[in-house]
Amino acid sequence: MGHKVRFEPVGVEIDVEEDETILAAAFRQGLMLMHGCKEGQCSACKSFLLDGELDMERYSTFALADYEREEGYVLLCRAHAYSDLEVELINYDEDVLRSATPIVEALTEVAAVDALTHDVRRLLLRLLDPPEMAFTPGQYVDVTIPGTDQIRSFSMANTPSSAGELELLIKIYPGGRFSGLLDHDLGIGDRLQVKGPYGLCTLRPGSERDLIMVGGGAGLGPLLSLLRCLAESSSTREVTFYYGARTRRDLFYLDELAGLEERLSGLRFVPALSEPEAGDAWEGETGLVTDVVDAREPDLSDRDAYLCGPPPMVDAAVALFAVKGIPESRIHFDKFTASAEAAVAPTSHP
Ligand SMILES: Cc1cc2nc3c(=O)[nH]c(=O)nc-3n(C[C@H](O)[C@H](O)[C@H](O)COP(=O)(O)OP(=O)(O)OC[C@H]3O[C@@H](n4cnc5c(N)ncnc54)[C@H](O)[C@@H]3O)c2cc1C
Ligand code: FES
Repeated sequence: MGHKVRFEPVGVEIDVEEDETILAAAFRQGLMLMHGCKEGQCSACKSFLLDGELDMERYSTFALADYEREEGYVLLCRAHAYSDLEVELINYDEDVLRSATPIVEALTEVAAVDALTHDVRRLLLRLLDPPEMAFTPGQYVDVTIPGTDQIRSFSMANTPSSAGELELLIKIYPGGRFSGLLDHDLGIGDRLQVKGPYGLCTLRPGSERDLIMVGGGAGLGPLLSLLRCLAESSSTREVTFYYGARTRRDLFYLDELAGLEERLSGLRFVPALSEPEAGDAWEGETGLVTDVVDAREPDLSDRDAYLCGPPPMVDAAVALFAVKGIPESRIHFDKFTASAEAAVAPTSHP
């Protein structure tokens, strides 16, 4: 059965079937609502139910606490409408709300799997059908784990100038259902189903402000896509890119980043090691990457911020940026949350 969902304060209305989530219905109709994990883990899609009846699939109470649910807050990625609804969007970005790139399902084949470090791999997928996928730098796709209906999200590190390929930087987790396949089970020519593009960690068309970026681990991927895009457009914006790793052996793509520093006169790359080893002979910044940003950047109020990587790093950086004067609306991030079935977070309902 179909219902109408009206979003306030933007005054946009969509049609929603009972068997689809409100977020999926919005994507289907070209509306790019705030989202992250799309499975009740991250709270990015949290909104307020003003009127009507809905029910929610299982979600993490880290994303939506029980008291918030009682007050009327809902997760749009888990919510199914059972009447016409009025929903207040808490976070939305008018610049990108109506500019969604159409979501497509695509068949790809593995073109390369390269080891970048002991636990990060570069998975290059070639699009077969359709042969290209439009996306905006900073976005991600959902990859279906072969032989299952489970998906994992991975951000593109390339730019749309190579729209026939998806370059994904993937951290290997021991026992990881998808990442665990990369070293032995996935080979050149193997087929993978992907769906996308998703995500809002993209450059805002209306802004020419200077940038600050913070990344950790495989979070380099989407930030690299943004930097490559800035280089392709010969941008003169200043960009300070702080990248956190544990030891010297966790750093990768240093040559490419040095090359980008040459092409982008405004780019400064600042790697920080949290646990440098004696043999690293490290002379750069040490400590948690957010502490390094805190020490080096007294005021960031004139910057746009981009963050990608492990959830604790993203949470710490978002809080730091607020203290340093960046309004919430100019802080863009993707938290690389674990998927719902792998997460250990408490869940609620049903
Ligand atoms: C929007 C978005 C974008 C993402 N982009 C990327 C990307 O570009 N590159 C990338 O490598 N990953 C990215 N991720 C994470 C990715 O989708 C997977 O969750 C991750 O690769 C683990 O999947 P898996 O199947 O290998 O492991 P699973 O089988 O899901 O989990 C195996 C084990 O690893 C642990 N684990 C899984 N993920 C994490 C985590 N994030 N932190 C701590 N422990 C964890 C699990 O708890 C479990 O014990 C992104 C996630 C989101 C939501
Ligand atoms: S997108 Fe809904 S909780 Fe993450």
